[in-house]
Amino acid sequence: MMVSTPEVARLYLTPLVRALEREGILFHTEILDLDEKSKAIESALDVCSLAARHSIDRKGVFLALGGGVCSDVVGFAASMYRRGISHIRIPTTLVGQVDAAIGLKCGVNFEGRKNNLGAFHPPEKVLVDHAFLATLPPEELRQGVAEMIKIAVVRDCQLFSLLEDCGPGLSRIGKLSVHSAAPEVIHRSIELMLEELEQNPFEDGGYERLVDFGHTFSPVIEGASGFSLSHGDAVAIDMAISCVIANKLGMLPRGEQDRVVDLLRQCDLPVAPGWIKVDLLLRGLETATLHRGNALNFPLPIRVGAARFLKQRDELPDRLLGQVWNELVSQTEKKKRKHIS
Ligand SMILES: NC(=O)c1ccc[n+]([C@@H]2O[C@H](COP(=O)([O-])OP(=O)(O)OC[C@H]3O[C@@H](n4cnc5c(N)ncnc54)[C@H](O)[C@@H]3O)[C@@H](O)[C@H]2O)c1
Ligand SMILES: [Zn+2]
Repeated sequence: MMVSTPEVARLYLTPLVRALEREGILFHTEILDLDEKSKAIESALDVCSLAARHSIDRKGVFLALGGGVCSDVVGFAASMYRRGISHIRIPTTLVGQVDAAIGLKCGVNFEGRKNNLGAFHPPEKVLVDHAFLATLPPEELRQGVAEMIKIAVVRDCQLFSLLEDCGPGLSRIGKLSVHSAAPEVIHRSIELMLEELEQNPFEDGGYERLVDFGHTFSPVIEGASGFSLSHGDAVAIDMAISCVIANKLGMLPRGEQDRVVDLLRQCDLPVAPGWIKVDLLLRGLETATLHRGNALNFPLPIRVGAARFLKQRDELPDRLLGQVWNELVSQTEKKKRKHIS
């Protein structure tokens, strides 16, 4: 059963349907209105109900054609339906291609928390085709650029340099074809993500995960925005805060901090929106600590391309977090004023 969303179906369903028909594959197609607001257990149950209506048995396969929301909901439905059936993901967004669709996790938002219900349910296959990105709006490409910056900062200085060249263009103009380096950047990002994930695929082999960079404060920031702030934007804010923390703790040279924050700004990613208060960030630390085995396990860059972990909560005084946030907000205000004048 192929599940897609209205816009993606409008653009890409026909060729896919033709290809499946050519192969003589029996399938049903369902178009569901899935977005961050409807990413809830009810949507996953809707997928299961449709599968039951089509009498899909344990040998059936779900196919998610769409962005990260679609693959998360469909993957979660596949993990539940008849105690778990196979699923294939065809990610059509940059976030999907470099992150959401290539991991093992799936899930839905619950009780105001991101992905608070979910499963580890590896897809049978993930088919990545850059051609889908030609129709993706720049603001959606920007979300994926944030995830690529994340992996570059903690793993690969060369990838970071490539992103300095093509990230701003991707985020602002949104034309993948304009940037000859883009496919290489995407491919390298996927490789690095997979290398990280395969070390601890079910996250039961320890809590030190480099891919958590940018994902310490971002869940509470997204939650507090009522999910109106996109995931990549929240990750960008988190990365900026993390870099300034790393600098204040003497781990990251100032020049390297500026390099990361400047790239985020050049990619039109938010860095320090005024509505965020330090209390929210403190709550982010508490939530992350609970989630990471009662220790902070906070990945912080030591230079572009490498990171280490801040283990304990008491290594990061509340006062320092306040200082970091004030500094980022005032820097951002200054940049805005300079831009206007
Ligand atoms: N499971 C994981 O490990 C994991 C990792 C990262 C993110 N996620 C989740 O992924 C979700 C975000 O995914 P997303 O950024 O792909 O958002 P999304 O799925 O909401 O898609 C964004 C928008 O792009 C449109 N779209 C999709 N493909 C298109 C195309 N080719 N051309 C034109 N428009 C297109 C969609 O209609 C939608 O409006 C979040 O819910 C996040 O929690 C999951
Ligand atoms: Zn993410």
